[in-house]
Amino acid sequence: MKALVTGISGFVGSHMAEFLLHQGVEVVGTIRNRSRMDHISHLRKDIRLAECELRDPFSVETLIGQEKPELIFHLAAQSFVPTSWNSPIDTIHNNVAGQVNLFEAVRRFELPAKIQIACSSEEYGQVEPEETPIRETNPLRPLSPYAISKVAQDYLGYQYFRSYGLHVVRTITFNHTGPRRGENFVTSNFAKQIVDIEKGRKAPVIHVGNLEAKRDFTDVRDVVRGYWLALEKGQPGENYNIASGTCYTIAEMLNTLLSFSNVDIEVQTDPSRLRPSDVQILLGDYRKFNEATGWKPEIPFERTMQDLLQYWRSQ
Ligand code: GDD
Repeated sequence: MKALVTGISGFVGSHMAEFLLHQGVEVVGTIRNRSRMDHISHLRKDIRLAECELRDPFSVETLIGQEKPELIFHLAAQSFVPTSWNSPIDTIHNNVAGQVNLFEAVRRFELPAKIQIACSSEEYGQVEPEETPIRETNPLRPLSPYAISKVAQDYLGYQYFRSYGLHVVRTITFNHTGPRRGENFVTSNFAKQIVDIEKGRKAPVIHVGNLEAKRDFTDVRDVVRGYWLALEKGQPGENYNIASGTCYTIAEMLNTLLSFSNVDIEVQTDPSRLRPSDVQILLGDYRKFNEATGWKPEIPFERTMQDLLQYWRSQ
């Protein structure tokens, strides 16, 4: 069995590759010439890497024609919400064109591949408190260019299934974190700041944005197991929430991290970390996915937070 992982050098891609290798699957991953390789350096002898620019149809067609994978985990994306405010067209083009090129290449070679696409709970956007926990039937009210790009990816998945019968499974993943999470994202950013304070590299002041927002965090290692199950047991064309079913304010998440450290800190709001509009609450209902695949989260939030701190302490 051969699997293609787009964005293999990224946070989720590297965990996906580890999971697939444990399943005995042959792993090929896409990188770009500017990709950082530190997340996958420990896997280099077990995986194959192919240079591929997903925005370039020729590049994607060449890759798909050569590799003909049976499974595709499409994880490559511009995934940081604030970047999408600064360069909206780039985010939309990157995320949407990359996926269209992938689908068209699969179609062109009539590849019977199963394709998982990484959609996002950001698509739900403005959620009213009475709408939680959020089901897949909830209206989409996206609040950022990033969210728009994910709505497009999501519905392209639906459309290519309906129009051409591509086996696309749409996973709608809520926030996920764990070791190797990029330092821009809130859990990793706060964990790194705490470790920098522990090591005396930074004054004991932690800079924060909106601490009131509520997020539903799942461990990345549970998420990649979910992506595998999505292709093993999920129905093509369907969308599935992958979530923990609990949520914390960002302030509570910060306090959890601090409870695993001895530092005394002052919290300071940094206005540059506030967003033009922030999704206030994301709390997911994963029953549909559980019924289809048996998946449920296994790693408790506290362990994820501890592992994240350990990751930064080891850097
Ligand atoms: N990044 C960041 N930095 N966020 C902060 C900070 C800070 O200093 N302080 C507060 N926050 C708040 C943000 O305003 C947001 O409400 C929340 O923390 C989470 O921010 P992120 O970690 O940047 O993630 P996100 O929720 O915007 O998006 C993540 O989850 C999506 C799924 O819902 C990303 O992983 C997306 O790629 C993913 O699709």
